[in-house]
Amino acid sequence: MEAPSGPASRRHVAWNRLLLAVSLLTFWTPPTTAQPIIETVPPLAAEGNDVLLLARNVSENPLGYAWHRGERVDNSQLITSYRVDTNVTARGPAYSGRETVYPNGTLLIQNVTQKDTGSYMLLVTKVDLQTEGQTGHLNVYPVLPTPVITSNNSRPWEHEDTVVLTCGAETRNTSYIWWINNQSLPNSTRLELSEDKRTLTVFTVTRNDTGPYVCEARNPVSVSRSDPFTLNVLYPVARPSLHASNTTVTEHEGPVVLTCLTDETGVSVRWFFKGQSLPLAERMTLSSDNRTLTIDPVSRKDAGDYQCEVSNRGNSSKSDPLRLDVKYQSTPEGSSDLSAGAIAGIVIGAVAGVALIAALVYFLQSISTRGASDQRDLTEHKSSDHNHSQGHSDSSPEKVNEIEYSSLNFNAQELKKKATSASPSPTDTETIYSEVKKP
Ligand SMILES: *[C@@H]1O[C@H](CO)[C@@H](O)[C@H](O)[C@H]1NC(C)=O
Ligand SMILES: *[C@@H]1O[C@H](CO)[C@@H](O)[C@H](O)[C@H]1NC(C)=O
Ligand SMILES: *[C@@H]1O[C@H](CO)[C@@H](O)[C@H](O)[C@H]1NC(C)=O
Ligand SMILES: *[C@@H]1O[C@H](CO)[C@@H](O)[C@H](O)[C@H]1NC(C)=O
Ligand SMILES: *[C@@H]1O[C@H](CO)[C@@H](O)[C@H](O)[C@H]1NC(C)=O
Ligand SMILES: *[C@@H]1O[C@H](CO)[C@@H](O)[C@H](O)[C@H]1NC(C)=O
Ligand SMILES: *[C@@H]1O[C@H](CO)[C@@H](O)[C@H](O)[C@H]1NC(C)=O
Ligand SMILES: *[C@@H]1O[C@H](CO)[C@@H](O)[C@H](O)[C@H]1NC(C)=O
Ligand SMILES: *[C@@H]1O[C@H](CO)[C@@H](O)[C@H](O)[C@H]1NC(C)=O
Ligand SMILES: *[C@@H]1O[C@H](CO)[C@@H](O)[C@H](O)[C@H]1NC(C)=O
Ligand SMILES: *[C@@H]1O[C@H](CO)[C@@H](O)[C@H](O)[C@H]1NC(C)=O
Ligand SMILES: *[C@@H]1O[C@H](CO)[C@@H](O)[C@H](O)[C@H]1NC(C)=O
Repeated sequence: MEAPSGPASRRHVAWNRLLLAVSLLTFWTPPTTAQPIIETVPPLAAEGNDVLLLARNVSENPLGYAWHRGERVDNSQLITSYRVDTNVTARGPAYSGRETVYPNGTLLIQNVTQKDTGSYMLLVTKVDLQTEGQTGHLNVYPVLPTPVITSNNSRPWEHEDTVVLTCGAETRNTSYIWWINNQSLPNSTRLELSEDKRTLTVFTVTRNDTGPYVCEARNPVSVSRSDPFTLNVLYPVARPSLHASNTTVTEHEGPVVLTCLTDETGVSVRWFFKGQSLPLAERMTLSSDNRTLTIDPVSRKDAGDYQCEVSNRGNSSKSDPLRLDVKYQSTPEGSSDLSAGAIAGIVIGAVAGVALIAALVYFLQSISTRGASDQRDLTEHKSSDHNHSQGHSDSSPEKVNEIEYSSLNFNAQELKKKATSASPSPTDTETIYSEVKKP
């Protein structure tokens, strides 16, 4: 290696003088003559990068190099120095552990952070003990995370609230772009961007301002776009109307189609029957948007008032009730729908009959007791007669009933076979029939 001329002791003295000279320099103005050039690679660094501060056009055979933070020679800001003849590296107060100086004067900084942003001063000591210096600059930018759009009001009311949307956390040297419905911002007096464009104000929102909104954050080292953000603007929903394909239908026929008519979009639809949430029976189907209810086949149990309700996140509205009438043949099925009054009448009638029989039995017994001395065959005759009369006295109503109910039961069973869906009506009939039969 080309060492400075002269004996080793002289070189030693020279180095000491150099160090002294350098340590005395607290402020240094770069000379206008021959200068090294410092090139930062990469010129715009992202956090985590390894960066080179390349020293170019350095004078030949220098004695050493010293790198400092800042734009002047300040020993308290010395990062590292390098002595060419011995290859010895010394660390200064500003050394972070990530810096390496190469024999050609170039400085490597590994895994840079934003704190490394700033100026770096290289001082080259030449063989003649003159110094030359140059300042380089390092800009470290964060890699922007995906921005998240936030709103200062998650439930703004239409025509009332002003909403401020913010694109991600505040970061330096970042520019922002917004889109609404995949279009650049329209020219609207109701939209206002902040100076740095990070916040977008939407004045007195309408349901048309729902979005979606997308923002993009951009800095010299990264571009990052948000997920779409939807503004849930609340409004009173208009009352829906309910329409039926036919409001008077015959049982077991169908279909009857109920349609919930609304101009609202983005609303959900619910159905009500007799004021209660409609339990969906097997014979009922809802369209995929829940706006159409199809009943097929129709059962008498479907008769009653229907309502539909449309709702969005903030409001809901129910239609007026729509009455569905279901006609059904009163015979034979009608009998199964015996009113409580009719059942009571039958039961009372039967009970009255039994009471009558009991009274008759008592009367006949008291007669037979009185006539104890009478012939046995007479008593036997009377008793058989009484049995006969009991059957006879009751035969007209009960026999008629029995005939009626058995035919009814038969018909109900037939019906059961006919209707695929098990209707409880025949079971009801059987119950009524057996109750009546019991007495
Ligand atoms: C390189 O340095 C020499 C003097 O050492 C100077 O004349 C020349 O202009 C410099 N080159 C550049 C590109 O600055
Ligand atoms: C100095 O040396 C380093 C490491 O070998 C190299 O990456 C860099 O390019 C060199 N600088 C110049 C100006 O050649
Ligand atoms: C300094 O390093 C160079 C190569 O980088 C080598 O050729 C030279 O011998 C080294 N000098 C000493 C004193 O270690
Ligand atoms: C880079 O520095 C960060 C802290 O600034 C640290 O968490 C990370 O582990 C470092 N990466 C490497 C490869 O040293
Ligand atoms: C959101 O910000 C706007 C504008 O500053 C303000 O008018 C509005 O009241 C804020 N909304 C809430 C819920 O704070
Ligand atoms: C980056 O931000 C800092 C502080 O806000 C500012 O001084 C600097 O000029 C910015 N740099 C760029 C390239 O915008
Ligand atoms: C948004 O616009 C871009 C082009 O500007 C297009 O490629 C993309 O499909 C659009 N997305 C939607 C959801 O319309
Ligand atoms: C937006 O509207 C204003 C006023 O009506 C007009 O001066 C401006 O040129 C418009 N900008 C665009 C991009 O249309
Ligand atoms: C929303 O937009 C539609 C179509 O552009 C328009 O007819 C309607 O009046 C707008 N509604 C509001 C509340 O601005
Ligand atoms: C729906 O909005 C109207 C008008 O703003 C309001 O009177 C009503 O209370 C709201 N209903 C519900 C369920 O919030
Ligand atoms: C409604 O249903 C009844 C009974 O099923 C039927 O007689 C009538 O023709 C239907 N009316 C219409 C308009 O479909
Ligand atoms: C339809 O209503 C059911 C409940 O009855 C609900 O689970 C479903 O999400 C609704 N579908 C739509 C598209 O609103």
